[in-house]
Amino acid sequence: MNLKDEFIKYFVENGHKQIPSAPVVPENDPSVLFNTAGMQPLIPYLMGQTHPYGTRLCDYQKCIRTNDLDEVGDKTHHTFFEMLGNWSLGDYFKKESITYSFNFLTKVLNIPTEKLAVTVYAGDESVPFDQEAYDLWKDLGIKESHIASTKEDNFWAAGETGPCGTDTEIFYFRSEEEIPCTFDTEDDRWVEIWNNVFMQFNRKQDGTLEPLPKKNVDTGMGYERVLAVLEGVDDNYKTSLWKPIINKIEEVSGKSYQGNEKSIRIIADHIRTAVFISADNAGIKPSNTDQGYILRRLIRRAIRHAKKLNIEINSNWEQEIAISIIEEYKKYYPELENNKETVLEVLKTEKEKFNRTLEKGLREFEKQTRDGIDIDALTAFHLYDTYGFPIELTEELAAEKNLKVDIEGFKQKFKEHQELSRTASAGKFKGGLAGNSEIETKYHTATHLLNAALKITVNKDVHQKGSNITPERMRFDFSCDHKLTDEEKQKTENLVNEWIKQGLTVTKQEMSKEEAIASGAECMFIEKYPDIVTVYSIGDVSKELCGGPHVENTNVLGKFKIIKEEASSAGVRRIKAILEEA
Ligand code: SER
Repeated sequence: MNLKDEFIKYFVENGHKQIPSAPVVPENDPSVLFNTAGMQPLIPYLMGQTHPYGTRLCDYQKCIRTNDLDEVGDKTHHTFFEMLGNWSLGDYFKKESITYSFNFLTKVLNIPTEKLAVTVYAGDESVPFDQEAYDLWKDLGIKESHIASTKEDNFWAAGETGPCGTDTEIFYFRSEEEIPCTFDTEDDRWVEIWNNVFMQFNRKQDGTLEPLPKKNVDTGMGYERVLAVLEGVDDNYKTSLWKPIINKIEEVSGKSYQGNEKSIRIIADHIRTAVFISADNAGIKPSNTDQGYILRRLIRRAIRHAKKLNIEINSNWEQEIAISIIEEYKKYYPELENNKETVLEVLKTEKEKFNRTLEKGLREFEKQTRDGIDIDALTAFHLYDTYGFPIELTEELAAEKNLKVDIEGFKQKFKEHQELSRTASAGKFKGGLAGNSEIETKYHTATHLLNAALKITVNKDVHQKGSNITPERMRFDFSCDHKLTDEEKQKTENLVNEWIKQGLTVTKQEMSKEEAIASGAECMFIEKYPDIVTVYSIGDVSKELCGGPHVENTNVLGKFKIIKEEASSAGVRRIKAILEEA
């Protein structure tokens, strides 16, 4: 039985539409570095926007959470995981949601009811105890002593603001021991496997809750965790999913998993996440900022552990492991196969770069710590700056010798880098609608104009390869085989500004995918779109498949200005542009 397939099949049979996994690097959402939950790409719909697939959705979603990155190495932590989820957008609510989950677990996965326990919301001054969820579970056969309630763990929010609500969490008793009569949430033989969130509030800036236009359900089930449960292993890395990957690491290192678990898990986890990040169409490369920094940290930490296993760093070990990961996942995520060359190149290039300084850096580290002296800020900074040691790597090396690192001092020295890495590792989520502010909406529309203009000023075959919008600027990647000339840039800028001045109306239409394509609408990855799509047209200059949002008329955009044009990757150029007050 394949868990992912069964999950989708079950929910499709129950009237849900399967939606494709969104990329791990969110498109047009600068508030997070990575997609951290299945619901994240759905925030606008949970807030009330109509979803083109309807009101019952399900998927498996690639997720990355890096707040526990340093804990990877034990049996359960991962930086990448898949979340199986089903949603009701103003359709069914608690009764159906709980019943669907219960039936899937007990009838499809054949988990005995007595091995399940649940928690429901305990209640506080603004939201009462969830009696309805309690009664529903009881009616389904969960005994009362297996129903607990909490406040903290039974309220789920995407961020400080945005959609949120009470939830009910489902636990499975993983041990062979006798199932305790009373469910104790502190007893870690019970593992949480599924979370059903009843999203009915929007948390506002001032912390107050206002009802959402519709009551939604958002559920999430951790794929690797449930797989471990079903396969009866207490180490997630011992499931059938990891087997070929761990085997490959054993093969390239000549070391067995047993006795080398920590390093092997770190290599397996980190290379897997690096593969998924670099296979995304966003084209992330290792760097010292944002997603690129996380990618760098993952690869460098994996390399350090490969060295611990005495793997010959110059051999193709990382590529072989990456290939085994791609093989494992390509059926579900074709982008891995499609972008395989890029992925392998990213890993190899970063390895070569780090390998040039790793040895010397390790020697320098040994020298500095020979007398058991803690690492001061200057040394940490030196290791970072000269030898490319991410501060977290220095910390890990120091911890192995029971030494401390002056992190505060380092932060001081490298405030800018520190800020980016921490934002990243906190997986910070400022609220889902951050990407829809007025200025960002303007940038969305300007992106369409730029896409259309380039086809006229540069080449009709220019196509969008990616985009990213922050309140400060827009970034647009497009296929093009040459560096734009000054003339091309000027013409493009002029044309966009001309369209802005013309005050073109932006219109939105829903139509079938076939109709949209036939009408000549532009789109990036056609296979990723549902059967019914939203098409935005700007006057008669642009027509694109897009989820929005957009301004109503181009005359509000101000003055468009290209501030940079550079290479992004082979055959892909990148434009950064801003909108200024007209
Ligand atoms: N959004 C909830 C979670 O991440 C349910 O999917 O747990």
